Formats: sequence, C-alpha cells, structure tokens
Amino acid sequence: MGKVYVFDHPLIQHKLTFIRDKNTGTKEFRELVDEVATLMAFEITRDMPLEEVETETPVVTAKTKVLAGKKMAIVPILRAGLGMVDGMLKLIPAAKVAHIGLYRDPETLQPVEYYAKFPADIEERDFYVVDPMLATGGSAIEAINSLKKRGATSIKFMCLIAAPEGVEALQKAHPDVDIYIAAKDEKLNDHGYIVPGLGDAGDRLFGTK
Ligand code: PRP
Ligand code: URA
Repeated sequence: MGKVYVFDHPLIQHKLTFIRDKNTGTKEFRELVDEVATLMAFEITRDMPLEEVETETPVVTAKTKVLAGKKMAIVPILRAGLGMVDGMLKLIPAAKVAHIGLYRDPETLQPVEYYAKFPADIEERDFYVVDPMLATGGSAIEAINSLKKRGATSIKFMCLIAAPEGVEALQKAHPDVDIYIAAKDEKLNDHGYIVPGLGDAGDRLFGTK
C-alpha cells in the first residue's frame, strides 16, 4: 500500500489557510500555491539519494555530496496542476516537465483525457504527478494509468488538499504510489467538491468561472 504523508510544517499550514479563504484573489492565490509547492518540493526531496564526490575548496580537497539516482520529471494535471510547477522547479530546476490534460465531466465526475506529452526516457525517471486537489481520485488515477501505460515505473503523487475518498481510491488503484498532501479534509459534497476545501482550484488559479 502506498504511504500517505501529510506535511504539517507551520509555513505550509499557514499559507494553506489563505489559499482556502474565499476572499483571496487570483494573484495572491497563485502566489501562495507557488510558495506551498516549493515548500512541499523541499519535503518530498528529503530522501533523495546522495553520492560522494571530491571537491577542491580553497583550503583542502574534501569529500562532499551531490544528488544521485534517477532524474526527475514533474507531471502537472492540466489545468490546475500547472500552478504547482514553477514552485517545484525553483528547487529542482533540472526536472523535465511532462503534461497530462484531464478534466472532470461535471455530470459523471469521470476524468476525460485531452492531452498527454512525456519525455522520451520515461523508464529512467522518477515522476511527480501534481494537482492541487485529490477529490474522488479519478483524475489522479487516470493520470497515473496513462504514465504506467507508457512505461513509467517510479511515480509519486502530490497535492495540496485531499478528500479521504480520493486517498482511499488512489491507494487502492495504485498501491505502489506514495501520496504527499498538505491537508486531508473531511469529505466530498454531493457535487464532488472537497469540504472544507478551497473551491475550484483551476478557476481560482486562472480567474475563470
Ligand atoms: C480538478 C482538479 C483535479 C480534479 C480532482 O480539475 O484540479 O484535476 O478536479 O477531482 P477528482 O479527484 O474527482 O478527479 P478539473 O477537472 O476541475 O479541471 P481544471 O483543472 O481544468 O479546472
Ligand atoms: N476539483 C476542484 O478544483 N475542487 C474540488 O473541491 C474538487 C475537485
């Protein structure tokens, strides 16, 4: 079963409160999502493998460390996932960015794929699928299906807010995928919105209705 990590860092929790606030406008909402994505990227990279190298400092030759292991790719689920990419790239600037376009059919709540573009060396990368919201879990599950179909073997999922229903569905569908979240909320309402949540993440990020 994939592990679930909830990031309770005070800065993340503080910023998330203002992201949730309905009076937070588009500009500030976008900036806060970007900042939280950076803070979460710092947390998810905590266990990255390191290797030893020799470095000549101005004083001596020293044994120091650099990152080792697989290269990374960030996969935003369009559209709202885009709001988390730049924040992550601030810490992981060499990561490739793949894209997967999915929208939730408002009637059935089922995800519909309309775009996908991935790097060529898909088997050799650690993929971080990102989306602010994990509601029913349908979009995340479908995005990960799409990645696996193309040969990805190392996948993690990161979001700001998750409903318990979405976490359970994602764990069941993809038990090999760890889930990183800033907050696990109470439930979904009858329209598939997370309660208390933050509303429609895509609309709030891009100022649409
Ligand atoms: C939102 C959100 C997720 C999805 C979560 O996207 O950004 O992708 O819903 O819901 P689920 O877990 O029930 O699938 P939406 O479909 O509204 O598209 P958008 O990003 O283009 O606004
Ligand atoms: N998608 C959103 O943007 N918000 C929700 O609460 C659920 C799905």
